[in-house]
Amino acid sequence: MSEERAERRKAERRRSSGQRLDLILDITRRLMSVTDLDALLRLMAEATTSLLEADRATIFIVDRDGGELWSRVALGASEIRFPVGRGIAGTVAQTGEVVNIPDAYADPRFNPEPDRQSGYRTHSLLTFPMTGQEGRVIGVFQVVNKRGGPFTKQDEDTLASLAASAAVAVENAQLIAEQKQLWQSLIETLAVTIDARDQQTAGHSQRVTRYAEVIGREMGLDGKDLEKLRAAALLHDYGKIAVRDRFLQKPGKLDDAEFAYMKAHAEKTGEFLAHLEFPHDMRDVPVIASQHHERMDGKGYPKGLGSSDIVLGARIVAAADVFDALTAPRYYKPAYPLDKTLEIMDGMAGNHLDPAVMAAVHRALPALEATIAELKHTWPKPGDEGMGSIQEAAGQLSERDQEAAAKPA
Ligand SMILES: [Fe+2]
Ligand SMILES: [Fe+2]
Repeated sequence: MSEERAERRKAERRRSSGQRLDLILDITRRLMSVTDLDALLRLMAEATTSLLEADRATIFIVDRDGGELWSRVALGASEIRFPVGRGIAGTVAQTGEVVNIPDAYADPRFNPEPDRQSGYRTHSLLTFPMTGQEGRVIGVFQVVNKRGGPFTKQDEDTLASLAASAAVAVENAQLIAEQKQLWQSLIETLAVTIDARDQQTAGHSQRVTRYAEVIGREMGLDGKDLEKLRAAALLHDYGKIAVRDRFLQKPGKLDDAEFAYMKAHAEKTGEFLAHLEFPHDMRDVPVIASQHHERMDGKGYPKGLGSSDIVLGARIVAAADVFDALTAPRYYKPAYPLDKTLEIMDGMAGNHLDPAVMAAVHRALPALEATIAELKHTWPKPGDEGMGSIQEAAGQLSERDQEAAAKPA
């Protein structure tokens, strides 16, 4: 009879360990499909909680630069940080050894302070290292309050399997995040170098990017499309790197030959960016950027494209470009107020600018106004080189208006 019962228990264990393996495999598959670190940490915490039949789990990540552990998933709270070496999780991060505490309040390593503050009661506690490819501890699992008793050796084994695949997913997500940061800082640096060449358009690329983003959102762009728009706006005048200083910084009207030369910057933008190996899903950034001076009536440059050949991103950058040329001060004009800016831009809708984009500009007016206020400090100052005297230019304003709009740089 007791033999029979033991057999039955054994069979149950086999079945449950089979189920557990299935679960781990399923979680591993899901982990591998997530490349965003925050989403990954949430998923890992949920998976650990259900897999070990615990009440809650927190995943800490070791920040190599700061010698700290951080987490964003603990109790739905904002980010918490503490040094490696402090507390149980900090110790596990340092030693790489598992700490399994059946009764927290009977263990001197446990700090009851957080419980006291939150009113929570910790009973059992399993703290487990996540080891990366180079044998370094890259994170720590902390699982709290196993249902029906302390954490077992089997729980430790289960967590070991989960931690192994979690480590791969975390390192992968970290690598992707680093590449993204590198990429982002690279294109921001390129934009800054362009704006730095010409005092008159200081901060221009940055402002055009922010305005384009506001308009793009208003038009329903999100995710990758918004990312592409932002990159293209940042780099739209990159071709100016090839324009000689004497044209770029000429503090007066350009003659036709000079203007034709200046125009080449849009084509150069496309040419130069074609050399950059863009990430696969960002391949149309050079196209968007190089079309920012094309017009709806086909009279734009460099290609004189018809409206149906101008990509939406380029139409948005074109409007953002004009918007900044008008709202920011230039050597021949002061900063125009919003109503005057819109009046001029409305006059350009249809032949130069896309009416659908202009409609979005009108709808997004409060956000655009707030963005102008936020970016005012990046405007060129009257005393800056190439800015000349705004008063001096005041008499020529009306004549220059259309020009400013037509040549937003
Ligand atoms: Fe521009
Ligand atoms: Fe331009």
